[in-house]
Amino acid sequence: MRRTLKAAILGATGLVGIEYVRMLTEHPYIKPAYLAGKGSVGKPYGEVVRWQTVGQVPKEIRDMEVKPTDPKLMDDVDIIFSPLPQGAAGPVEEQFAKLGFPVISNSPDHRFDPDVPLLIPEVNPHTASLIDEQRKKRDWKGFIVTTPLCTAQGAAIPLSVIFSNFKMTGAYVTTIQSLSGAGYPGIPSLDVVDNILPLGDGYDKKTIREVTRILSEVKRNVDEPKLQDVSLDATTHRIATVHGHYEVAYVTFKEDTDVNKIKEAMTNFRGEPQDLKLPTAPEKPILITEEDNRPQVYFDRWSGDPPGMSIVVGRLKQVNQKGIRFVSLIHNTIRGAAGGGILTAELLTEKGYLEK
Ligand SMILES: NC(=O)c1ccc[n+]([C@@H]2O[C@H](COP(=O)([O-])OP(=O)(O)OC[C@H]3O[C@@H](n4cnc5c(N)ncnc54)[C@H](OP(=O)(O)O)[C@@H]3O)[C@@H](O)[C@H]2O)c1
Repeated sequence: MRRTLKAAILGATGLVGIEYVRMLTEHPYIKPAYLAGKGSVGKPYGEVVRWQTVGQVPKEIRDMEVKPTDPKLMDDVDIIFSPLPQGAAGPVEEQFAKLGFPVISNSPDHRFDPDVPLLIPEVNPHTASLIDEQRKKRDWKGFIVTTPLCTAQGAAIPLSVIFSNFKMTGAYVTTIQSLSGAGYPGIPSLDVVDNILPLGDGYDKKTIREVTRILSEVKRNVDEPKLQDVSLDATTHRIATVHGHYEVAYVTFKEDTDVNKIKEAMTNFRGEPQDLKLPTAPEKPILITEEDNRPQVYFDRWSGDPPGMSIVVGRLKQVNQKGIRFVSLIHNTIRGAAGGGILTAELLTEKGYLEK
């Protein structure tokens, strides 16, 4: 039996924060103990939160008061989940880590610090050891671990299986992303209803930058081409769906490559979370659909157990002897944020990083 870990959720009223609250209320050993925010400080959580997810605000959470993000008030807290906005997150997370708290961040602010893991538990779990380097270098008792951009994860999880087992020379991804990816209140309705909104060069580039870092950290069964010789590109868009990022990828190879072998590798893909039977690990991180008209955002985004933790890959097709296509669907606020953060916490618990 594990000891119960008390969690603080910073940004608890946000679209990612509510998924932490929902998932942790049912977690076997990590419990929401402290809810922090900015505009909602001092008010009961149930009164201020916009519960834009399934179910109701959990009964035991409804009357909890939202508090400031002040480490001095969090003496008995064991772990900090930080889905704070870009810019606000960085200094707050550093302050907590310096004072000895383990911080799991969904924000972009520390994703490219070389001593901060950018972790997907099934893909690059060994990068957790960067925590030791981080603590030593910064003289911190605590640490920061980040989870990647939801869009990058939707591409990187299936691409990591391909890159580690096949001689991939290029991947070209087009994304169709949901509104919740931009937080609440997000994009003005007149910009996105009846429209496809290109997210622009900056978003395209940050997606590829994160995918590149993740691929550079996977363990490979083939040793060529080197990552620097692999051509990667993304074209990103938002449309008026609520949750779920839909991504279309064309992948090229150095030699003839059979799409059925790729399908098999994705079907059999599992990682440390599955071997360790972590509570938030889905049995299959990638579910393959054979239906020509699936995945569909509306029907498939909550796939897996816990719901939303499996990516759905479909429309796998041999384009030519050295090229394939696939579509992936990721639940952005679950696997791409809160669920990924909780799975990361479970992995770090197993690795001994959350011991007092
Ligand atoms: N949405 C996604 O799909 C997704 C996926 C992956 C990563 N992320 C990342 O996760 C983070 C949160 O995203 P979100 O979609 O949940 O955003 P959101 O819906 O806009 O929520 C932001 C939350 O942060 C709080 N907040 C804002 N400024 C603060 C401050 N200075 N100090 C303390 N709390 C503050 C707000 O609290 P009050 O209501 O009390 O003001 C609110 O609870 C972002 O960094 C985002 O990039 C999001």
